[in-house]
Amino acid sequence: MGSLKTMSGGLLLGLCLTLLGWGAEGQWNGRPKKEISGSGPINLGQQQRGTWWPLMQTRENLTEVKSIKSMFQFRTFDPEGVVFYGDTREGEDWFVLILRNGIPEMQIGKADILVSVQGGPKLNDGKWHLVEISSQGDFVVLEVDGQKGLVVGLKSKETVEVLTGQIRLALGGILVSLDKLLIPFQPEMDGCIQKGNWLNLSTPWETEMIGEPWPCYQNIQPGSYFPGAGLAAFNTTDLPGHQTEESGITIDIHGDSTKMEGTVLSLKTSGQELPTVTVKINNDPKKVILTILKRDTVTEQSFSRLSLTLLKNQVNMDIDDTHLTFEIDNIPDFPRSWKEGMILAFGGLPGDGVSYSSIQYLKGCLEKIQVQGQDVDLDRALYKDLSISSHSCPSEV
Ligand SMILES: *[C@@H]1O[C@H](CO)[C@@H](O)[C@H](O)[C@H]1NC(C)=O
Ligand SMILES: *[C@@H]1O[C@H](CO)[C@@H](O)[C@H](O)[C@H]1NC(C)=O
Ligand SMILES: *[C@@H]1O[C@H](CO)[C@@H](O)[C@H](O)[C@H]1NC(C)=O
Repeated sequence: MGSLKTMSGGLLLGLCLTLLGWGAEGQWNGRPKKEISGSGPINLGQQQRGTWWPLMQTRENLTEVKSIKSMFQFRTFDPEGVVFYGDTREGEDWFVLILRNGIPEMQIGKADILVSVQGGPKLNDGKWHLVEISSQGDFVVLEVDGQKGLVVGLKSKETVEVLTGQIRLALGGILVSLDKLLIPFQPEMDGCIQKGNWLNLSTPWETEMIGEPWPCYQNIQPGSYFPGAGLAAFNTTDLPGHQTEESGITIDIHGDSTKMEGTVLSLKTSGQELPTVTVKINNDPKKVILTILKRDTVTEQSFSRLSLTLLKNQVNMDIDDTHLTFEIDNIPDFPRSWKEGMILAFGGLPGDGVSYSSIQYLKGCLEKIQVQGQDVDLDRALYKDLSISSHSCPSEV
């Protein structure tokens, strides 16, 4: 999922593109740099999608470095993404800590050696974990909650002990080019860092983040959070549902509808100006509005699960235990259009941004989004507004 794809998605949807400003690896893009404390809290979800550039970074002369250890608290529900990066010799020797399937993974490049190791506990349980990384001679050691997670030994005739030059540290991205990685990964990380201590340095960090640093919510729960400022859109060809003809395509949404307001989802055929199917929630008084073409069906009910099944000339909607069936002649053959590629948006109406007002953006938490019974990861969307947290919702408890 490169930035090119993201960009075409953005252009296609007629949405404002902030991604264009992101330059190539190793290059500031001219956006003003700001100083920021490295001790946090730092919300890594604030990083622009489709970019590998770090959210923030710092550098220090190695002669100033007295400690060998960096430690921080980390919390996420996101299974995959980049957390912490460090290098010396301007990226000649580097390491990166990522999560994959929720498990820590380190990739290290040093002289002629490239290694990747994975292990330790799953970290994406939404709880704070203490993560410590230290460089001890020929070894890099990762500890989680005081327990040894990973120990990597590296030795080559070509490794040189570096005592001069600078060390660079980065969060939420990397400073080497992608082709140096042993195994590629998806960079986006919806996670938070706090109480960071980076080699015991007090050097300020630099960031190009837009606006104020985002807070980290006190409590989080799994889900995708839409604060009412934007949508996430998929091309249905990137989603499951290409085999089934008879049983149709099923989209499931889990969440407390009494705490939602706005457009939950909309489905649009290319070339059509209006969405073909839209589901909206209104809570004053509570109702679910299903629009098929221009026809509205209002159900005065709340739900914890809404299921939409798209068949040829038929749409079924299940709101908890209420089953509704709509047979319409002039709607598209959904299973076929799905295979050809429709736009499925969550949290808003994909349009030209002018004809649809922003009050229709969803405000609320979708605890689970599934297509054909499989979880939909918003980090893999064609387009996702920066405001949306793909893997966490604020929670009250
Ligand atoms: C780092 O070293 C360079 C020269 O080697 C020096 O000019 C610079 O002031 C040093 N920076 C710090 C923060 O000590
Ligand atoms: C960390 O820095 C503080 C003050 O900057 C100093 O008192 C302390 O000894 C340092 N600790 C280590 C392990 O270097
Ligand atoms: C969706 O993807 C298909 C297949 O890659 C492509 O032909 C189609 O143009 C895409 N549709 C949109 C609206 O981007």
